[in-house]
Amino acid sequence: MTNRGFIAGLVAGAIVSFSLFAVEREAAGQGGDRLPRNEVQRGLAIAPVRLNVRGLNRKFVALGSYIVNGQGGCNDCHTNPSYAKGGSPFEGQPERINTTNYLAGGQQFGPVVSRNITPNPQGLPAGLNFQEFLRLMRTGRDRSGELLQVMPWPVYGKMTDQDLRHVWEYLRAIPPAEPGA
Ligand code: HEC
Repeated sequence: MTNRGFIAGLVAGAIVSFSLFAVEREAAGQGGDRLPRNEVQRGLAIAPVRLNVRGLNRKFVALGSYIVNGQGGCNDCHTNPSYAKGGSPFEGQPERINTTNYLAGGQQFGPVVSRNITPNPQGLPAGLNFQEFLRLMRTGRDRSGELLQVMPWPVYGKMTDQDLRHVWEYLRAIPPAEPGA
């Protein structure tokens, strides 16, 4: 390669990396630009409720929060109502998640009602141990053998065991709650 070719290559490379950098910055600008970049830190930053990590793996809890609150949209269906009064982004208001009834279920979908997935007194989300939770997410069948009709389990069931483990661990760390009216 000639010197000029080399320099042209360097310049082109610099332009490409600079535009990629600009695209990345723009993407991060969608409300997330002030949040930590790493998934553990971000998971902790976006958890809307106080977490109780006693006896739990803090990193698993954080990564589970990243999936539940940053990817899974569990709050959309499992919190009734999903947002506090005056805090609905869908009405152009600054987001405030309904932390009182967070993930306690109670949203109506035709004949189906979303369930309470907060921990029971034994600390198990929806009363499910990890094996039961994993089976439910993979097969869509709950403990009574009923096939879930609304839950996007065909999508969630495609996650790795490890990711589902993180989700389960996060659900163990959230406060027990009751559905809102
Ligand atoms: C589109 C709405 C929707 C979303 C999104 C959703 N769920 Fe559900 N989920 C439901 C409904 C409704 C039920 C009740 C059963 C059914 O679907 O027929 C349910 C049931 C469950 C159950 C079964 C509880 C039990 O007692 O058997 C678990 C566990 C669960 N959801 C976890 C999650 C998690 C974790 C997420 C996010 C990763 C999530 N759900 C996202 C609607 C949803």
